[in-house]
This record gives sequence, structure tokens and C-alpha cells, in this order.
Amino acid sequence: MRVYLNGRYQERDQAGLDVDDRSFLFGDGVYEVIRLYDGRPFELDRHLDRLEQSERGVWMEPVDRGTLAEVVAEFAAHEGRTWPDAIVYIQVSRGAAPRSHSFPDPPVPPTVLVWARPVKPVAPEQARAGIAAVTVADDRWARCWIKTVNLLPNVLAKEAARRRGADDAVFVRDGMAIEATSANLFVVRGGRLYTAPVTNYILPGVTRAVVLELADELGLEVRLEPTPVEALEAAEEVFLTGTTTEVMPVTRLDGRTVGTGRMGPVTEALWRAFRRRVGRPGDA
Ligand SMILES: Cc1ncc(COP(=O)(O)O)c(C=O)c1O
Repeated sequence: MRVYLNGRYQERDQAGLDVDDRSFLFGDGVYEVIRLYDGRPFELDRHLDRLEQSERGVWMEPVDRGTLAEVVAEFAAHEGRTWPDAIVYIQVSRGAAPRSHSFPDPPVPPTVLVWARPVKPVAPEQARAGIAAVTVADDRWARCWIKTVNLLPNVLAKEAARRRGADDAVFVRDGMAIEATSANLFVVRGGRLYTAPVTNYILPGVTRAVVLELADELGLEVRLEPTPVEALEAAEEVFLTGTTTEVMPVTRLDGRTVGTGRMGPVTEALWRAFRRRVGRPGDA
């Protein structure tokens, strides 16, 4: 497997990361994950926009967008041909400098890492069955809109879910269910579709934005409001959205069955529309 590291394409086991890299020492870096469908990056512009937003969010000068777009295109053209289902990962760190909390002064070049890997597509049957989730207290910081590599709270929440026999965890902050460990949360209540508004407490998901467009095209009634945790119990449908999650129903939540225990009708309409949007209508 090859990687792109600071301007060079090289084999993964040849690539050397400086032990003083600030993403390693401090989690001082940001990232993006872009899905390739049949060698085509899905919503590349939105991902590059968000990366820039994340870089500015941690007071980094954004890496040249044209360069990143070229690197993604290179992985899409080569690795994407071998792997019809893949992701491209981009990580930008503040660079390598002797360990100090202060920013390097003078600044050092950022560390830019990009690679592609195959992913297993979600089988329609798997999507129809959905996943199990549990709710956990959201103890993340208050800048969740920045896609930083500081993912320890998300990692711990995911592991807590696994230990409770579930697949993912839904974060609850101030009594409101807002998003999952690596996906946004949608809830159908009283026939309306609810998702948390974009605030500093969620990551503004690219898939979330696409699903909101699809909901609009389908004429669904949408409310940009988070769901009180006690209202989850009566929800007709719950689903997650994300680059690798796509549109995934949550059919068990905190040990209870959600709706019929299978993908519900609103989720199904959006799931089908999403499949069409990514150019895989046949799968649905
Ligand atoms: C915390 C969190 N929320 C939401 C998402 C979904 O975002 P996207 O649809 O852009 O992948 C992610 C993706 O990794 C995430 O980490």
C-alpha cells in the first residue's frame, strides 16, 4: 500500500513519521475521510471545504487545496480502479517540532498524509437490519465542529457501546441526543424528520448535508432540532449518516427495539435516494 507523505508517494512501510510530530504528541492535527465510489470521490468539494474550516479552527494555515485535490485524484485514479469501494484519508498536522505546548516559533511545515484503503460496502440486508446503539454522556469538548484527530472520547464511547453489546454510541449533551461517535443522528418522530442543527457541539457531516437535500427533494418535513433523550423511546425511526456509515438505521437503542426493529419507511426512502445519489441504485 502506498501513501502520500509531505509531497512524496511511497510505500507505507518506507514512510517515516517524525516522532516529534505534533499530531502524535498532542493530537494537534485535523483530518478528512472521503468515500470513493467506483473511483469517483463523493462530495470532494464539501470535504475540502470542511478540512479548510477545521484547519482554520485550530489556527493552521490551510494546505493548498489544489495540491490536495490532485493527490485525491491520483488515489482515485489508481487505487480507486482496483478498489471500487474505498476511502481516501487526509491528515494535516501542525508539523514536527521539539515537544512544547506552544506553537512552533517560527512555524514548521505541516505534516500532510494521504492514503486510500478499500472498504467493505454495506450490504442492503445489513442496512435493512440496522445496528444497535446505546446512549452515552457527551463529555467531548465544545469544538466538535472541528474534525480533529483528538478522537479519544469518541473511541471510548465506541468501546463502551461494544462492551454493552452494541455497535455504536449516541452522545447525549444537556439531555439532547445529538450525534454518534462517527456519524450524525436523525430521528423520525410524529412523521417529521429531526436532526440536530449545526452548532459547535456536532460535526457538520457531509452525508448529513446530502441527506437533508434528499429529504427536501422527497418533500419530507424536516426540523433542525436535537431530540430529547426521553423522546427517543417513542421514536418511529432512528438512523445515522456518515461517509462510511452511509444511511444506517438504528433498530435497537439502549436495549429497546426502535419502531418495527427493521429499516423504517422514511429511512428507506432516504436510503434509496442516497443509493441513487452515489450511483449505486441497483443495490437498493
Ligand atoms: C463525530 C462525527 N459526526 C458525524 C460524522 C459524519 O460526517 P460525514 O458525513 O462528513 O462523514 C463523523 C464522520 O467521521 C464524525 O466523526
